[in-house]
Amino acid sequence: MTAIGPSAISRRSLLVGAASATIAASLPGTAESSQTAAEFRLVAAPARWPIVGKSYPDTNAWCYDGRVPGPEIRLRQGEPVRITVENGLADDTTVHWHGIRLPIAMDGVPRLTQPPIRPGESFTYEFTSPDAGTFWYHPHANSLQQLGRGMAGALIVEELEAVPVDRDILWLLSDWRLTSDAQIASGFGNPMEAAMSGRVGNTVTVNGAVSDEVTVRAGERIRLRLINGALARIMALRFEGHRPVVVAIDGQPCDPHEPERGRLLLGPAMRIDVVLDMQGEPGRHYRVVDDFYDGLSYWLTQLAYEDKPPLRAHPLEGSLALARNPLPEPDLAAAGRHALALQGGMMGGGGMGMGMQGREHEATWAINGHSMTGDGHAGMAPLLTLQLGRSYVLAIRNETAFWHPVHFHGHSFRVLSRNGSPVPHRQWADTVLLPPKETVDVAFVADNPGDWMLHCHVTDHQVSGLMTVLRVA
Ligand code: C2O
Ligand code: CU
Ligand code: CU
Repeated sequence: MTAIGPSAISRRSLLVGAASATIAASLPGTAESSQTAAEFRLVAAPARWPIVGKSYPDTNAWCYDGRVPGPEIRLRQGEPVRITVENGLADDTTVHWHGIRLPIAMDGVPRLTQPPIRPGESFTYEFTSPDAGTFWYHPHANSLQQLGRGMAGALIVEELEAVPVDRDILWLLSDWRLTSDAQIASGFGNPMEAAMSGRVGNTVTVNGAVSDEVTVRAGERIRLRLINGALARIMALRFEGHRPVVVAIDGQPCDPHEPERGRLLLGPAMRIDVVLDMQGEPGRHYRVVDDFYDGLSYWLTQLAYEDKPPLRAHPLEGSLALARNPLPEPDLAAAGRHALALQGGMMGGGGMGMGMQGREHEATWAINGHSMTGDGHAGMAPLLTLQLGRSYVLAIRNETAFWHPVHFHGHSFRVLSRNGSPVPHRQWADTVLLPPKETVDVAFVADNPGDWMLHCHVTDHQVSGLMTVLRVA
């Protein structure tokens, strides 16, 4: 495991007196549905938000509709939606609907798929999600600052028939680097960090606020949707005294299973839906611990049991399997095969020699020897052209000394194997986490025409070269 620089989490030092997480579930703005499409409006603008709690000043953030995270957008599977984004920032922006299989013109990559939304202008996104699940939205312009200052929100597409649970709860997890007066530290795009693990912060929030506890009732069954909305922080969550069952990954249903060693591993941009039966004792507290980075474990929040008798004597029975989404099954025998090598960074080994030219510690990453930097620009030459309708297997090889959550736009893929060993549930995903030196094989049908980005979702890595474009034509 790699050191994460100066960001050893000092949660309790910063967080004394933090307020408990209260989740405002109401959606501001307009949410009227017409016969044709559900309509939403999102205003991107600066605002102040109480990230740390009452004994600290509010944090100057950039956000959607004046709140952190942005409003939760809920749709029904197959329901058309129109979302008008108004730019009240002094900075160009776009919105990317992460994980949604939508037409390329709605993908939100500046200059590649749309002109950037200039300050004072707006853009209307229109799409229909074929898939139900837990998705999210975030900017794809000046992403380091815009995402790092708070612009992100959940996009939940409801199944036509949901699994029966008592409550459906969302935790959008964000990671902030805050100063001692709870302001966002400057220094985005530090080349040294970009060549290592990226900008890992010192404060992790649940739905925009540091959380001391989340109230639960003994005996209830909760569907918990987890979204890692961090710039760079990888999380490994353990629920002390509980046994979460994973029912969906990156929005896509999977065989219900308990995670390996009880840890839910979430790289930036990844989502996991779990079903949690609240089997703890009334009146007790159970910690939710993130112990991904060696020696830097901290607790994210606690499950605080109400002092009330259990809601039911025995856990609910019945299958936890969600209905599958309409994803085309790749034909592995006929699939085209390509290798993608992730290269560069500090301690790259293998003598890449990248990023070391000129300034000391300058970061450079590459995919198959090519570095695309930034958030998106016109005329990005595709690394590969894939045939519309054909199946593909990509062998993604991490030649670097760092972890990379690799994300592909416009498609979901099956995760087939890691270092040649079959992955137990061959889950669908849109983002796959690669440990150093690991090779992951993923498969998908190239059924969505367009120039689609593939990049690491550690934003520092993306903007310093760990990005490419795959054309489906
Ligand atoms: Cu959520 Cu191009 O990313
Ligand atoms: Cu995406
Ligand atoms: Cu990366």
